[in-house]
Amino acid sequence: VGSERINTDILTLTRYLNEEQTKHKEATGDFTLLCHALQFSFKSIAYYIRRASLINLGGLAGSSNVTGDDQKKLDVIGNDVFIAAMRSSGRVRVLVSEEEEEALVFDEYPEARYAVMCDPIDGSSNLDAGVSVGTIFGVFKLPIGAKGTKEDLLKPGTELVAAGFTMYGASAQLVMTMRGGAVNGFTMDNALGEFILTHPDMRIPKKRAIYSCNEGNSKYWEEPVLEWVNSLKQAEKPYSARYIGSMVADAYRTLLYGGIFAYPADKKSTKGKLRILYECAPMAMVFENAGGQAVNSKMQRMIEVVPEHIHDRSGIFMGSYDEVQKVIDIHKKHG
Ligand code: AHG
Ligand code: MN
Ligand code: MN
Ligand code: MN
Repeated sequence: VGSERINTDILTLTRYLNEEQTKHKEATGDFTLLCHALQFSFKSIAYYIRRASLINLGGLAGSSNVTGDDQKKLDVIGNDVFIAAMRSSGRVRVLVSEEEEEALVFDEYPEARYAVMCDPIDGSSNLDAGVSVGTIFGVFKLPIGAKGTKEDLLKPGTELVAAGFTMYGASAQLVMTMRGGAVNGFTMDNALGEFILTHPDMRIPKKRAIYSCNEGNSKYWEEPVLEWVNSLKQAEKPYSARYIGSMVADAYRTLLYGGIFAYPADKKSTKGKLRILYECAPMAMVFENAGGQAVNSKMQRMIEVVPEHIHDRSGIFMGSYDEVQKVIDIHKKHG
């Protein structure tokens, strides 16, 4: 049992953030502080989810959010935890959450320079079954003196300075990327209470025969989507279907193994289901930075889409470069 086998020089998220900050001479430390607050919210939400069955946090809250979802008790708690962490960081001017109809403007910190988008708990319909869920986030940097108006938020994903998501699974995973940077994966070490860099520079495999979508919606799908999925099933070696129903979990698997995740717009949900600011755009940044692609149902780069309202939705196809290209090619053929 050689002690040389034990890594005593661990790269924690805290250390990683410090190292990133020193690389940028102009950095004020504000972004680092914001990330520490994000990290705390992830740890807390993970903790409540793990204890949910023990402390009566299962089931519905009895309310619904602005996009029409029934809120689970944990949706409400996750949202409250996230808001408290962002507000108290003193670095956030405005916050958009799936669970809040309006953007929350934090006037107690008028100098704060960041806008944060979040889906506190993605996949919450799975919570009571103990299936993996997670938190999705995106961060915009605002001009000096920004008041946190709609214009500060209705921007394309190309303007995000950072984005990522967590997945509270067998262990809590954090996937994070900065604009134009690598995608890094961290694993929570519960004993240390730290996220540890376990998956540096994640690159999504160029192709893989796995598709992930809710085929129960196929009655409403448009022709190109039907043709695409059928082509995968009729391939010489047919694709495997994998659909958890928590985008964070389906996305995490897709990042690691390759393949494609899709939630297309269809005849019933003509704008799609997933929401641009806090679901589609952050995921698009992660997938592009990992070498994959992400497009909407019009085959536009997802990351370039500008929402008109903070809760606007979109169809999305994201995953391995070649797998998304197949979708694009079939749609182009249909014109
Ligand atoms: P949320 O739990 O944040 O409301 O998001 C739900 C999303 C996403 O997690 C998942 O990919 C998708 O909804 C599942 O939708 P279906 O149940 O329609 O398949
Ligand atoms: Mn929801
Ligand atoms: Mn979600
Ligand atoms: Mn949610």
